Amino acid sequence: MSFLQAKDIKKSYHIGKKDLDILQGISFEIDKGTSLAITGASGVGKSTLLNILGLLDKPDEGFVAIDGVNITQMPKSRQTKFRAAEIGFVFQSFQLFQEMNVLENVLLPTFAMPTSKSGRENRERAERLLRSVEMGHRLDHKPVELSGGEQQRVALARALMNSPAMILADEPTGNIDEETGNHILDMLFNLVKELEITFICVTHDKSLAARCDRQINLQ
Ligand SMILES: Nc1ncnc2c1ncn2[C@@H]1O[C@H](COP(=O)(O)OP(=O)(O)OP(=O)(O)O)[C@@H](O)[C@H]1O
Ligand SMILES: [Mg+2]
Repeated sequence: MSFLQAKDIKKSYHIGKKDLDILQGISFEIDKGTSLAITGASGVGKSTLLNILGLLDKPDEGFVAIDGVNITQMPKSRQTKFRAAEIGFVFQSFQLFQEMNVLENVLLPTFAMPTSKSGRENRERAERLLRSVEMGHRLDHKPVELSGGEQQRVALARALMNSPAMILADEPTGNIDEETGNHILDMLFNLVKELEITFICVTHDKSLAARCDRQINLQ
């Protein structure tokens, strides 16, 4: 059985009297621990699809199943728990909390998912992840004191904090230069492989798309 199944996903927006049929029946499957790039022109619906896969948005029709469980139809409270436990997000604009330092930003997902782990264990894991993205020396810095590439590495550590089964990334290299982007992708693909995480990204970046096991082009 595949890890994730998207089945006949449809999504339209209604603006005034106009219907915008954005996703018109998207179906695909992806195996555990593999990577997928979603490409396509601006406005075609890539972010909409990614948000539906990550339970940040609802399809009008169709569903997403993970390990055979239909997550689209889960009650909202279960979806919130599922998202916190199983899905890590990385966004183009990093979306770090400006008033928190680097370590606190990485610890944030643990607040959404109370576990049996102690504060000290969580802190040690956060520090270890930050070292693995070469940010271990900037724990008490605020995001505003970091470059774009450094912020994206912190965002990556945060996405990994709860040991998610899947990472969803929307243009993860969109706001950083090519060399930095490649370096971050090296770290990302090493971690994803080592931890057997399923990785789905939306990207215009051809080198990122080429590194994924599969590509889907939305039209
Ligand atoms: N809340 C909304 N209300 C109305 N239309 C929307 C809404 N969100 C998205 N859209 C429309 O849906 C379409 C798809 O948007 P989406 O953000 O998924 O595109 P995208 O493929 O990610 O584009 P880009 O590459 O520019 O990020 C766009 O035409 C957009 O205007
Ligand atoms: Mg988008």
